[in-house]
Amino acid sequence: MSFKNVGVVGAGQMGNGIAQVVAMHGVSVVMMDVSEESLTKGLKTIESSCDRLIKKELMTTQEKAEVLSRIKTTVHMGDFRDCDLVIEAATENVELKLNIFRQLDEVCPPKAILASNTSSISITKMAAVTSRPEQVVGMHFMNPVPLMKLVEGIRGLQTSDQSFRKVAQFAENLGKTFIEVKDMPAFAVNRILMPMINEAIYVLHEGIASVEDIDSAMKLGTNQPMGPLTLADFVGLDTCLAIMNVLHEGLGESKYRPCPLLVKYVEAGWLGRKSGRGFYNYAG
Ligand code: CAA
Repeated sequence: MSFKNVGVVGAGQMGNGIAQVVAMHGVSVVMMDVSEESLTKGLKTIESSCDRLIKKELMTTQEKAEVLSRIKTTVHMGDFRDCDLVIEAATENVELKLNIFRQLDEVCPPKAILASNTSSISITKMAAVTSRPEQVVGMHFMNPVPLMKLVEGIRGLQTSDQSFRKVAQFAENLGKTFIEVKDMPAFAVNRILMPMINEAIYVLHEGIASVEDIDSAMKLGTNQPMGPLTLADFVGLDTCLAIMNVLHEGLGESKYRPCPLLVKYVEAGWLGRKSGRGFYNYAG
């Protein structure tokens, strides 16, 4: 393995999935979040994800114990001091991410590569607040991380070939397929996926079809594993809105305007699965 000690910022949906997959490949992980509560929740999610893999006979109970033993948790960023790669997977907010990159730059060894799992924000911008912009790379995993085969690799303007190659090799070692995309708003996956989800929300908003029928249409009519509204709830409606805003502001075209119904749902705190309500109800 090209990296021996990997840090992950954020124990949420993406952070805990990344920590799990890295630990599944024999690498030590330090998973950091701002509260013990988030870390405990993240570890619980990793345990139940491993249990699902055991059920599908893709993991043994012994391997699960090994995975968990490789993950250390912390609320202190200073605990990344021995990491050779840190992957940031915090909330999709520019100011928050810039702050994290400034701090990572201070605490991580000079040789360490700093990666971001951002789904839409400029890698070039994050690289620019560090003293090592050539060692900053986008490493965008898909949700759920243990099951999805893709890592979208993003080169910032400053990213060196060497850093990019190391991250590509690491992603392949994790069993993922790595694709290279330019640092443009929302990159490739979300540039295509989010306008489709946003359009599905417009179809609902304009009363063209019901939630269930929109999902059936796309599942049965185009063989997608999940309908677009189920997928939106799965990703998180706040994340979908944040990505649409990045597309709208970054590319300036009205076709990227977030659907007003999506905005309202987020204002209501109906964020999808994680809040118990989105286009579907998950309470109870
Ligand atoms: N770890 C974590 N979650 C797991 C899991 C594991 N080991 N195994 C299954 N899951 C999740 C599923 O999402 C789902 O949740 P619930 O049981 O709570 O409903 C459930 O577990 C389904 O499990 P199944 O075993 O029945 O499902 P499956 O294995 O047949 O397929 C799936 C699940 C792979 C997620 C499939 O539905 C799928 O491919 N969906 C589309 C996912 C997708 O498009 N992801 C990309 C989102 S976009 C993104 O991530 C980028 C971004 O920046 C927003």
